[in-house]
Amino acid sequence: MTTSSMSGALSIDDLDVVKPRFLASDNTSGICPQAMAYLIRANQLDDLAYGNDEWTERAAEHFRTLFETDCEIFFVFNGTAANSLALASLCQSYHSVISHQLAHIETDECGGPEFFSNGSKLLTVEGAHGKVTPEGIERMVTRRSDIHYPRPKVVSLTQATEVGTVYSLDELKAIREVADRHDLRIHMDGARFANACAALEVSPADITWRAGVDVLCFSGTKNGLAFGEAIIFFDRGMALDFEYRCKQAGQLASKMRFMTAPWLGLLENDVWLDNARHANAMATRLASGAAELGIHTMFPAQANSVFLELPAATIEGLRARGWTFYTFIGEGGVRLVCSWNTSTELIDSLLGDLEEVLAQNGR
Ligand SMILES: Cc1ncc(COP(=O)(O)O)c(C=O)c1O
Repeated sequence: MTTSSMSGALSIDDLDVVKPRFLASDNTSGICPQAMAYLIRANQLDDLAYGNDEWTERAAEHFRTLFETDCEIFFVFNGTAANSLALASLCQSYHSVISHQLAHIETDECGGPEFFSNGSKLLTVEGAHGKVTPEGIERMVTRRSDIHYPRPKVVSLTQATEVGTVYSLDELKAIREVADRHDLRIHMDGARFANACAALEVSPADITWRAGVDVLCFSGTKNGLAFGEAIIFFDRGMALDFEYRCKQAGQLASKMRFMTAPWLGLLENDVWLDNARHANAMATRLASGAAELGIHTMFPAQANSVFLELPAATIEGLRARGWTFYTFIGEGGVRLVCSWNTSTELIDSLLGDLEEVLAQNGR
């Protein structure tokens, strides 16, 4: 008898259903133990509200050490808010932001960046493997210079990209060069920043401010927190009055410490990096297993996401076996995302199911 049936409560183990198996996103995973331990510690003593507590200060200080610079840090609940508010602080309403056409800010934030900036327009560019290129930026900036065109002011890059690729250091520097020529600021959507650092084996400082990034939105949610993103301004001048923006947008947590203390669990002993390395390793295992089955991977799986091109019947077959994934993100295909707690068993069981479903459907 299971514990739940002994207590009378119904658990999913008691139900005669196909149990979901989660690779839909890195936010389907739970809180990692180190973050949870800090949440519990923070709950042992009362503290000041609105970020004036000891935990928030310690987390901010830790970020300064990690990034090897005296940056300014703010904490918000989610990625849409982080991106939208960061971009709003870099733009006037008549400015524009250049991003990739698959960028989350363009496709999945419900117009948040435009709303919070009072109308700054997103100008989207194409680019292989989900990446903005220096040529794309140059074209977008120089195609018009008249008063009727929203003046380009920011380039927004997603690192790792929405399709699971990673901008190299050289690519970032080439983008900074063109940005300098046109007086553009650089925002980085770091929903999977940790995975990019792990993939590139470079320091956080090297792929941000030393490569010309002005503002980074660093996701904790996708790395092992319950929720929470850090917005990091490498130029403190750009952060002027940012706390008022957060408050006005409903992003100033009164019990901020419960969002920031768990960050210490990620930052101490480089747990954030271990979590990301693990997620990336699981994605590599999945991509190479899929390749052995003759399945085409749509993009190089450089971080923790894998995009598979699968026939509709195979997709249905996997769903019937409980696998959860999205097919509408990026350029389509089946997106599978690994996280800090994805196990080798889960990956191997997916590969086993894939093999069986392909064989059932005569491939
Ligand atoms: C590239 C990217 N940016 C930002 C986000 C943050 O989104 P949310 O507002 O759901 O936290 C996500 C989440 O899926 C993402 O994939």
